[in-house]
Amino acid sequence: MQLLPGFRDFFPEDCAQRNYILATWREVARRYGFVEYDGPVLEPIELYRKKSGGELVGQLFDFVDKGERHVAMRPEMTPTLARMVAARERDFKKPLKWFCVPQFFRYEKQQRGRLREFYQLNCDLIGEASASADAELLALLIDMLRAFGLSQQDFVVRVSDRNAWCQFALNRGVSEERLLDFLAVIDKWERASREESGRRLAEFGLTPEDIEQFLASPGPEADHLKSLAADLKARGLDGYIELDLTIVRGLAYYTGFVFEVFDRAKSERALAGGGRYDRLIELMSDGKLSLPALGFGMGDVVLANLIQDIPAAKSLRDQWVAQQHAADVFVVLADENRRPEALGILQTLREAGYRTDYALAPAKVGKQFQQAEHRGATLAVVIGQEWPAVKLKHLARREESTIDQTELLTALSPLLAKS
Ligand code: HAM
Repeated sequence: MQLLPGFRDFFPEDCAQRNYILATWREVARRYGFVEYDGPVLEPIELYRKKSGGELVGQLFDFVDKGERHVAMRPEMTPTLARMVAARERDFKKPLKWFCVPQFFRYEKQQRGRLREFYQLNCDLIGEASASADAELLALLIDMLRAFGLSQQDFVVRVSDRNAWCQFALNRGVSEERLLDFLAVIDKWERASREESGRRLAEFGLTPEDIEQFLASPGPEADHLKSLAADLKARGLDGYIELDLTIVRGLAYYTGFVFEVFDRAKSERALAGGGRYDRLIELMSDGKLSLPALGFGMGDVVLANLIQDIPAAKSLRDQWVAQQHAADVFVVLADENRRPEALGILQTLREAGYRTDYALAPAKVGKQFQQAEHRGATLAVVIGQEWPAVKLKHLARREESTIDQTELLTALSPLLAKS
């Protein structure tokens, strides 16, 4: 039986990496005062048809359930979040700073950085329209990536503003209704050939030269991005952002400020993307509630590729994983007759919260020490003929002491205290 294309088995080493990514996402989001939420894996398909729009609608994993409901597995969080906020907005103080780390499903063609199942960190800030919210979210995004050991040499946040393009298009006679179609051409600008873009622009009475001219001198809409840069400069983070108006994002709900993160080597697709969606909650509440909002999504697949390729990031991950997997104590049984006493000690140590392991089957002492090393144990407790005295060994420091078994917990604790 083969895996479905775009789906993954998570063997222990893959699970360890996934846990590392999720734990780091959670830790940094909390550092910025964000709280975690979640929603359902299945939603009515209409939620995505009406609210996500763009390419995503053609990528849904959807089916009709036994109650004749047409449902879709979640491909993103933003429509769900808008629904949740619209439902219980009054119960929460603004601004809301919420994050989640869900698994998503998109029927895309599998390729590097693109699967049919992936995890995505979402951080959203709701109820604050000022540019300082935009800067705060970018700072969180940048610090999130720095926490993985990625630096200014490794990634860049390309910031842009959809309004700049909407003004540009409206001034040149493109109708309101066709603005999203026009933005879709700009979204593909860097990936499509000049001829192909030219063909699609002709539908709007525009040429590639018009676009190139605008990119070279975008006009006053880009000013907002200057105030962002000033805020980030005060935090020492301005070196991570660049203005790039070719970013417009492929989802329908974005209203203005948008951004995407790319690796500097440009060997990957976007690592994260987001922006303002100031009208989505209003749409979700049939006009009853208007709340400005912005957020971003960061996928685990591209991030994992970068961690693998960038030595500083890889070494941080390896340290984390080794620490998670290591045993604190390995109980070495030097005299088979003392097995009941050794099991008693094992139980006491585990109940005290120490990660404790031992050889299940009788084995030579040397072999047991090898196993202790393999498990990354800090200490070994040797139980043998000296009972009720036991030997306590610090494996890395090669230090050894003999103590009474009743003193074990007291002797162990300072040796295992995290430095
Ligand atoms: P998105 O650009 O569709 O935005 O996805 C954000 C990130 O998720 C991408 O940059 C990419 O790293 C990852 N991603 C997307 N699709 C796949 C895939 N098929 N395989 C692997 N990784 C993938 C959104 O989803 C918005 N809802 C983000 C947002 C939150 N905007 C505001 N709040």
